Amino acid sequence: MITSAGGWFFIETAKTSYILRIDETGHAEHIYYGSRIGRDPEEAECINGPRDVKIGDGTYQDEDNQFYFPSNIMSEYAAPGRGDTREAAIIAEYGNGLITLDPVYSSHSIYKGKKCTEAPAALSGEETETLELVLTDTAEDIAIRLFYTVYPEEDVILRSASIENGMDRPLTLRTVSSLQLDLPDAEWDLLTFDGAWARERNETRRRLSAGTASFGSTLGFTSSEHSSLFFLARPDADDRHGTAIGFGLIYSGNHLERIETSPFGKCRVLSSINQYGFSWELRKGESFSTPEAVMAFSSSGIDEASWSFHRFIKRYVSRGSWCGRERPVLLNSWEATYFDITEEKLLRFASKAAEAGMELFVLDDGWYGRRTDDTRGLGDWKVNTERIPHGLRWLSDRIHGMGLMFGIWVEPEMVSIDSELYERHPEWIIAIPGRKPAPGRHQYILDMSRSDVREYLMQSLSDVFSSGIDYVKWDCNRNMSDYFSSNPELRSCGELMHRYILGLYDLMAGLRERFPGILFEFCASGGNRYDMGMLSFMDQGWTSDNTDLLHRIAIQHGTLRGFPPYAMCNHVSASPNHQCLRISGLDDRFGLAAFGNLGYELDILALDEDGIETIRQQTEFYKAHRKTFQYGRFRHLPPDGGNLFWSIEGSDEIIVLEIQSRCDVNTGRHHRLVVPFAESGREYRIERREKHISPDALGDSCGKYEAMEKKPFRITVSGDILRSAGIALPVTFMGRGFYSGVRVMCDNSTDIFVITKLGRD
Ligand code: GLA
Repeated sequence: MITSAGGWFFIETAKTSYILRIDETGHAEHIYYGSRIGRDPEEAECINGPRDVKIGDGTYQDEDNQFYFPSNIMSEYAAPGRGDTREAAIIAEYGNGLITLDPVYSSHSIYKGKKCTEAPAALSGEETETLELVLTDTAEDIAIRLFYTVYPEEDVILRSASIENGMDRPLTLRTVSSLQLDLPDAEWDLLTFDGAWARERNETRRRLSAGTASFGSTLGFTSSEHSSLFFLARPDADDRHGTAIGFGLIYSGNHLERIETSPFGKCRVLSSINQYGFSWELRKGESFSTPEAVMAFSSSGIDEASWSFHRFIKRYVSRGSWCGRERPVLLNSWEATYFDITEEKLLRFASKAAEAGMELFVLDDGWYGRRTDDTRGLGDWKVNTERIPHGLRWLSDRIHGMGLMFGIWVEPEMVSIDSELYERHPEWIIAIPGRKPAPGRHQYILDMSRSDVREYLMQSLSDVFSSGIDYVKWDCNRNMSDYFSSNPELRSCGELMHRYILGLYDLMAGLRERFPGILFEFCASGGNRYDMGMLSFMDQGWTSDNTDLLHRIAIQHGTLRGFPPYAMCNHVSASPNHQCLRISGLDDRFGLAAFGNLGYELDILALDEDGIETIRQQTEFYKAHRKTFQYGRFRHLPPDGGNLFWSIEGSDEIIVLEIQSRCDVNTGRHHRLVVPFAESGREYRIERREKHISPDALGDSCGKYEAMEKKPFRITVSGDILRSAGIALPVTFMGRGFYSGVRVMCDNSTDIFVITKLGRD
């Protein structure tokens, strides 16, 4: 709900309040963001107290407002040059190097829904309302519109801004933020999700201190280096307790996050398109709209804020025919074959996949043009008939005949140096005339701002997608360089990075409209482009090329902080693992991969009967609980004995994953499972999923394990016990031999427990 009275604005979700007001000088002043409080302006006055604090050597508003120090005011959208010396939400030049702006209240409106719902803009629902606040500069004809859209049930507030130039001369945007949030103190930890290829979104937690903590991407894409998702959490907050605020951009290009601690102990949060190389000229009557940014406040731990993101993405970001539908279990050919593919081999893979209970076979890289290795072929989206003589339609028919869906890999935005497309259209790449462009993976980037490039891709990809394709993996395998566009529609190269992303969105929207039934998965060297912008056009994302169990714990943990499990694709791959050579059990790898959207990526033909049967049982189990695994509520449970416990809750069950990185010896204790959200007055049945133990993992002890009496673990307890005391899980192997009931948990292992919700007292 959004209400306003006497220049005060109260924006409320089910559990949170956001309050701002137009202050005595006409500026939009931030008052409060946190747990829900009242809507009384008189009472709200006391939140920040009277304006009676003087700042030594500070610049004040004017002689009538000598206590008004802009550098110490919590503002809604800070501009430079009038005393607020902190990071600015907007920097715009309007001639002669002038950047001073003084935006004050002009008008506002509150309405149902929101103005733009075309992807990547979020959708609106029944209860969605928007406050549109118009600020205008006191001297120049420049307007800033601030949008606050409220999603009450999800406890989400969506923010964006638009800048309009009414002057006769140009206005050049250098920095323009989607979101600014000023907080009254800086006693926060900052949680960011950082990494590189194969170690995406590893969580970093640090205390804010003097100055600006800033991170972002200049790679042209969201990047695996720094996600645009981040959290502020009180130092005592953890997954289940305390105050946290999540932030994220619905955008796939360069982004910049700045979190500043002011000299007066206040905190300013800014989320923006990255100013690196960005400049955008607005002529009279033109405007620029920022991407949208999501904010979610929680007073009961970080998991609660993540749940707001998950629900918001499912209802208002994801769209299309796959929205809310269970996603198929797939087999991807990449790590099984790399570039070494033949029609015959693919059919044998697909047939084994069907036997093992999979539902979709994905033909990864290597099927088109000259693509026999990664030095050639990108851009030539025609099947390589030496490798697939009967063509895609024929292959698809055969695969459909096995009861499987058929999917294909493409990397549309790129062109290999050695390709027919580059020979025909060298002018289509991003490169500076007179300079040799920098390659990456032997490829250049097509200029997606150009309509002729997009038309070519629309046509050539449509031909591919019309050949019986049910699923598309859309890849993007190098970062941006040599920023120059030959597109005459661009006023300067400063527009290129953003125009590229808008062009990409335009192409994806066109293909989505033409192929509404296709399940789209985005990928960029693994998870180099994992963001809500992509999720508004595509159904799910490839999380990381790293499928090692141990590394993957951090990657999946970081991804789940902001993105729902149905969007997070996990593959069970080979052991030793292709990224780090680590060895782990097939059922152990399955445990972690099942916590999200399950797939396989290994040489299934190399598995023996036992291996296929193990996978068959995995896919059967996964499908029986798929709704929970993909659409359930993810939460961390209390860790115990060095092991992690994750849970995912569906309407009638909770599935728990125990993760053990290291097997300890002679610990003398059981691991304890506590489910803090178990309900009082309800009974729960807890069963362990029996694991297949590979003889390789046990070596000489295998015979002893085989001879041991296996006791299934199945108990029923009250919610009170599960919530408060917890239960002792079956003893794990700890160097004291094999006996009835011992669970084998090696290094890098997982175990799954299914908790069924029974009746109430
Ligand atoms: C990228 C992807 C991989 C695979 C290869 C194919 O690295 O992340 O999953 O598709 O490209 O070239």
